[in-house]
Amino acid sequence: MPLFHPLSLLFLFHPALDGCGEPPSGSDSIVTITNTTLAVYTCESGHFFPWGETVLRCNASGQWELLSGPDENSTSDWYSCSRRSTYQGCLEFNGTSSNFEMSLPVFYENSSSERDNRRECQGFCRGQGHRFVARQGSNCSCLANITTATTRADNLCSDLCADATSHCGNTDLALYSVFASVEECVTLSRSPNATETSMFTQQTCQEFCRGLDSLLSFWRGGLKHCDCLHQIPDLTEESRSTCLAADNVAEETLTGSLFITELLDPMPASSCEDIFNQGIFVHGSYYLSNGTKIFCDFYDGSTRCDRGWLSYTGSCYSFLSEKAGAESHLQTCGVHRSLLVSVSDQAEWDFLILALSRLQYMENGIVYIGLYDTQKTFSYMWSDETPVTLRKFNLNYPDNVDNRCIVLVNGVMQNVLCSDQYGAVCERSPGEAPIFPVPPDLQVRHPSFQSLQISR
Ligand SMILES: *[C@@H]1O[C@H](CO)[C@@H](O)[C@H](O)[C@H]1NC(C)=O
Ligand SMILES: *[C@@H]1O[C@H](CO)[C@@H](O)[C@H](O)[C@H]1NC(C)=O
Ligand SMILES: *[C@@H]1O[C@H](CO)[C@@H](O)[C@H](O)[C@H]1NC(C)=O
Ligand SMILES: *[C@@H]1O[C@H](CO)[C@@H](O)[C@H](O)[C@H]1NC(C)=O
Ligand SMILES: *[C@@H]1O[C@H](CO)[C@@H](O)[C@H](O)[C@H]1NC(C)=O
Ligand SMILES: *[C@@H]1O[C@H](CO)[C@@H](O)[C@H](O)[C@H]1NC(C)=O
Ligand SMILES: *[C@@H]1O[C@H](CO)[C@@H](O)[C@H](O)[C@H]1NC(C)=O
Ligand SMILES: *[C@@H]1O[C@H](CO)[C@@H](O)[C@H](O)[C@H]1NC(C)=O
Ligand SMILES: *[C@@H]1O[C@H](CO)[C@@H](O)[C@H](O)[C@H]1NC(C)=O
Repeated sequence: MPLFHPLSLLFLFHPALDGCGEPPSGSDSIVTITNTTLAVYTCESGHFFPWGETVLRCNASGQWELLSGPDENSTSDWYSCSRRSTYQGCLEFNGTSSNFEMSLPVFYENSSSERDNRRECQGFCRGQGHRFVARQGSNCSCLANITTATTRADNLCSDLCADATSHCGNTDLALYSVFASVEECVTLSRSPNATETSMFTQQTCQEFCRGLDSLLSFWRGGLKHCDCLHQIPDLTEESRSTCLAADNVAEETLTGSLFITELLDPMPASSCEDIFNQGIFVHGSYYLSNGTKIFCDFYDGSTRCDRGWLSYTGSCYSFLSEKAGAESHLQTCGVHRSLLVSVSDQAEWDFLILALSRLQYMENGIVYIGLYDTQKTFSYMWSDETPVTLRKFNLNYPDNVDNRCIVLVNGVMQNVLCSDQYGAVCERSPGEAPIFPVPPDLQVRHPSFQSLQISR
């Protein structure tokens, strides 16, 4: 594997390693930049960075050093990746101080690493309510706005940062390395002053908040919670270890991924369908790539469904990823005044398959549908008692009369033991009472549930 001179990394595009570019060597930390990702590899003694067949170790002098062959201790890495929403590029300003809200010449000359330098600068400007920092050499300036930058000149910054490991502008050319003052992974000092909303992906949270014209989105992946914030919250010392994987933030109430929504790349979308195809299915307003905002009532808008439920030809559908037996899923559907889905025609079947492939949290898994063998005779009935007009059984299925429940797997039906653990799809038919929260002890079972004898 070729070793690059550390600084040459700045000028090369690298194949993604966890979306992060290649790790550095021979340096205490370094920033690499690809189109969408900024990677900061912070070397701290005792840390290892797995790199293909080999491993980098942060050695006693605080520099990444390539070890040959795997290392028994190579389980931990120590780096962070930020979307370009944090790093805005090497921007050219016309050099008048009116561009800057506040400047701190030689602000961080004594910091130990580039990363700390940047964070100090970010923390300072954030504290002043400014959304961007402009770094040139060891100078840190705060910006309210980057629209006054005349040029986006990525990779042209050639002055070194204070610790000489990454590029920080160029005095002659009035180039500055510009970052958002908000880091991606943060720990708030107190609960955000916002209504938290269950979401399913970080992207949904970001786009949903952008659609609300909120300044920031705050996503806690472990809790699947999304807050849309209108001002920069107070942050504590940022805890980088819990935010390495954007969608896997620990279940900490105050640690999560904070984004300035306007800095996110626009979604490549020209319709609600395009947005849905990217896995977003929470009803709300969204921006299309041309800057137009539209309201999307997923999927076909034929009826108003609760957030998290999809409408299709007048019914509402909920996709349950939790693995459970059929009876447990029946109860879950029942709490929401719904049944396991009854499929009346090919179009509805195709809709289920499409939705399963788009809803990322379902991971295209196997799901129970509301078809049962009520008599152990391969005579099937839908849970809403409509006639069975659609049979999509896989070759050689149904097989065994003991396998009385039906799942949708790879686009076809298969019969399984009702106690087998899979996801499920609930359908709330037109005319059902509106969904409202039912206290657990008052959970209403739909009458037809009782008519189903589910084998265990
Ligand atoms: C640490 O690694 C760097 C670069 O690989 C090397 O130049 C330096 O000598 C190493 N320091 C020690 C103490 O091994
Ligand atoms: C970077 O962006 C350019 C232009 O938008 C695009 O052609 C290229 O494929 C992108 N590269 C990567 C690695 O995404
Ligand atoms: C791995 O870590 C253990 C415990 O810190 C240490 O004793 C051992 O020497 C390390 N192995 C290598 C190859 O560095
Ligand atoms: C430089 O930028 C400032 C702030 O945007 C502006 O007021 C000034 O006119 C610009 N000067 C030149 C020479 O472009
Ligand atoms: C950096 O460290 C030196 C020596 O410890 C000190 O004199 C100087 O004031 C420090 N600079 C800043 C900006 O803190
Ligand atoms: C830092 O800012 C001062 C004052 O604006 C300026 O004179 C100096 O050239 C800057 N240094 C670097 C390295 O950009
Ligand atoms: C940023 O600049 C644009 C254009 O000059 C202006 O419309 C906008 O209000 C500015 N935003 C802030 C937060 O200053
Ligand atoms: C929280 O939000 C409410 C309503 O928007 C507002 O009245 C209140 O002052 C806010 N509290 C803080 C601490 O910002
Ligand atoms: C943006 O795209 C949408 C959908 O293609 C279109 O309806 C709308 O008119 C466009 N808006 C602008 C400003 O181009």
